[in-house]
Amino acid sequence: MKDTHLEIEHIFKENSSPNWRADIYIYWLITKPHVWRLVAAVVFSFCLSGINGAIAWLTKPALDAIFIEKSESFLATLPFFIILLFFVRGIFTFLTNYLMSSIGAKIVKSIREGIYEKLIDLPMSFYVKTSSGAVVSKILNDIEILYQTTSNTAKDFFVCGGTVIILSVVAFIRKWDLALLSFLVIPLIVFSIGVLGKRMKKTSIKTRKLISKITIILHESLLGMKIIKAFTMKNKMLLRYKDTLSEHYRSIMREIRIKEFSAMSAEMLGGIGIAIIVFYGGKLVISDQMSPGSFFSFVTALLMIYTPLKRLSRVHNNFQQARTVIDRIKEIVNKTSEKHGGTEKEIQGSIRLEDVSFQYPDASDFALNGINLNIKQGELIALVGPSGAGKSTIVDLLSGFWYPSSGNIIVDDINTRELSLNSLRKAIGIVTQDVVLFNESIEANILLGHPDATADKVVEAAKAAYAHEFIMELPDGYNTKIGERGVKLSGGQKQRLTIARAILRNPKILIFDEATSSLDSDSETKIQKAIENIIPGRTTIIIAHRLSTIKKADKIIVLDRGSVVQQGRHDELSTQEGIYRDLCSMQFGLNK
Ligand SMILES: Nc1ncnc2c1ncn2[C@@H]1O[C@H](COP(=O)(O)OP(=O)(O)OP(=O)(O)O)[C@@H](O)[C@H]1O
Ligand SMILES: [Mg+2]
Repeated sequence: MKDTHLEIEHIFKENSSPNWRADIYIYWLITKPHVWRLVAAVVFSFCLSGINGAIAWLTKPALDAIFIEKSESFLATLPFFIILLFFVRGIFTFLTNYLMSSIGAKIVKSIREGIYEKLIDLPMSFYVKTSSGAVVSKILNDIEILYQTTSNTAKDFFVCGGTVIILSVVAFIRKWDLALLSFLVIPLIVFSIGVLGKRMKKTSIKTRKLISKITIILHESLLGMKIIKAFTMKNKMLLRYKDTLSEHYRSIMREIRIKEFSAMSAEMLGGIGIAIIVFYGGKLVISDQMSPGSFFSFVTALLMIYTPLKRLSRVHNNFQQARTVIDRIKEIVNKTSEKHGGTEKEIQGSIRLEDVSFQYPDASDFALNGINLNIKQGELIALVGPSGAGKSTIVDLLSGFWYPSSGNIIVDDINTRELSLNSLRKAIGIVTQDVVLFNESIEANILLGHPDATADKVVEAAKAAYAHEFIMELPDGYNTKIGERGVKLSGGQKQRLTIARAILRNPKILIFDEATSSLDSDSETKIQKAIENIIPGRTTIIIAHRLSTIKKADKIIVLDRGSVVQQGRHDELSTQEGIYRDLCSMQFGLNK
């Protein structure tokens, strides 16, 4: 399992130079695990070509036996022979197509796996810059194209290629000068394909980009449906979507024009070839220089060549299409993954921030400026401060989503730059500001905290999080499915589920980035009690907007615009002049 990802990543990375040789080599490497299937498919495809050749070849003895010798006995066996030939051809066609398509499907499966594993491995910096819709589009649409091209193009290449060669041989043996004459048009066909192929690649890139734009719009619309309706943005969204669709339509049509134009020119040039043959060949038959059997065998070969040749002319276009997809996969694969390795250690939970500054990529200001903090193991720390002060940023740095631009974060005397992300994250239980629930059962969502936990432990955690009661009132209890993003639960209920998840994890470091507002006072007290339930024995960092939660904190750290402006216990800070007292008077003034 693990290997697919590394292999796919490796294959695309090692061959990332943008030339067709590298791309062919990529094809070879991803096909290699299925090489026996490929060999079988190619063997069958050659048998198929052989039978096609035989049909053209046998036209001569058959026709000569009928027209010249007028043999009754031969005619009696002919139908059976024809039926047999076509049956065998059907069977080989089936086998070839089946095997080729299965190789395509297998390749696409492993690429989808590889890309997904790469995606989970990419750092948060990738995700703040990339729309998730674009990524979804990459995984779904692009790779689908790759499936089409791998199975169809490979099939066309081998079956049609082999058939064209064998039929040419038949034609040459029957009448080489006539064959030479009719093949004069082939260089023309090849030339027109070459020119069109380049335009095809350009257009194909554009189409891919537009599909990704469409996916982004769809994705965002679904996530933000409530807002779209509430803000009556319906028409605006519709317009945006329609515009992109039209643009996509135009791009697709351009692609179709190029594709069909190349088919059309092949057809026209083919017509010229046939005209030459019929005229010159007919002359040879009339002047008795060629038997009617030979002539028909020749014409059969040429007529049969036509379709595979047309298909073959598409191989190049399809390959260009596939190359644009390969380019996009290379793009993802070449992004740097999160750091692997580092010291593995069981974390106890003391945390020190030394002069930590941090600037988000592309941001003009620092989100944190020279933060110094010392948190002992088991302490309860509260981070407070106005919105945008940098509270969530500190938590993200602690979780290893980002590294400080300067300064160090020391956990248990180890710099987080040297600590393995796995050890660090295992020690942390986090309840984030935006509640993330997956489209699964309640139990599965809680289990994310600790996948091996027993059902009893899940219930225990839910009880501690004050979630058990409402869960039991749901139709299927713990097995109730939560809709996409948990739409069927209230804000407070969702929050308590994420708390249960964090409790089940039983972490050494517990972080609450409290979802503010919008909770009713009942939910609020329950959440507060839940938090109090699980604090003992852990290093806890609470980002709270409600001061009642943090009165008990060992240390309250007041942040403002990325700097620590006050630090101390509630009773110390509430008597000092400053942001904290302002916050207190605002809240308690309102509350009491
Ligand atoms: N992904 C990002 N890219 C660029 N800037 C960001 C990003 N995330 C946050 N910021 C900026 O960093 C600063 C600190 O943000 P942060 O989310 O840490 O604030 P906060 O204290 O958690 O606020 P709140 O109480 O509203 O949650 C803000 O000025 C914000 O605009
Ligand atoms: Mg925040």
